[in-house]
Amino acid sequence: MNWWLRHPDHRVAVAPSLLSADFADLRADVASMTAAGVDLLHLDVMDAHFVPNLTFGPFICEAIRRTTDLVLDAHLMMTNPERYLEPFAASGVDAITVHVEADCPLPGTLGRIRELGVRPGISLNPATPVDRLDGLLADVDLVLVMTVEPGFGGQSFDQGGVEKIAWLAERRTRAGWSYAISVDGGINEATGALCRDAGADILVSGSWFCRADDRAQAARKLRGDA
Ligand code: DX5
Ligand code: ZN
Repeated sequence: MNWWLRHPDHRVAVAPSLLSADFADLRADVASMTAAGVDLLHLDVMDAHFVPNLTFGPFICEAIRRTTDLVLDAHLMMTNPERYLEPFAASGVDAITVHVEADCPLPGTLGRIRELGVRPGISLNPATPVDRLDGLLADVDLVLVMTVEPGFGGQSFDQGGVEKIAWLAERRTRAGWSYAISVDGGINEATGALCRDAGADILVSGSWFCRADDRAQAARKLRGDA
């Protein structure tokens, strides 16, 4: 079974973005997500520099780690992620995803993440052509396709991501690579289906999933099972 799936019957992973979680009662909110059958949790780290918003760092990641056994992917929307890899690795996250647009030495940063015993991921913004990832794809466990401009939840889905997902799936098959293809931004039942059909493995959903009245049903809808 692929590392991003929590159940052998799952073909697509559902990953709530905790940006839309209840931080006043995070333990209960994570328990509700777990009960809904999600596969992993997506942690949005913003530095008020790479993006015009500020969220949390390794200290909160470590607190989240203590609430759950789910796989944690830290999505670092940071200008200099390479300066903070050690504390994020020590926080207990399973994957660390950095941006190809960040001002950091690649592939050295990805190699360092792996040395720290964490899965390296690479992300790209909507305006970045997918071939910017050439030369990095053999070394990553996850590729995160942004379908909104990073910084805020609740924005609408950029269709350009669908082609990038298909390109990444085709390249992976042709080269025999094994990265997970994840997609983030404006994911709901309809946009999730487009990404799934294009070959996405992980659907990150913040506002749509977290605000659903029935999260278990929302997770099934994202998987195409309801
Ligand atoms: C955007 C974040 C996303 C975001 C997703 O900067 O990386 O993870 O929270 O939220 P929705 O699903 O509301 O677009
Ligand atoms: Zn994210």
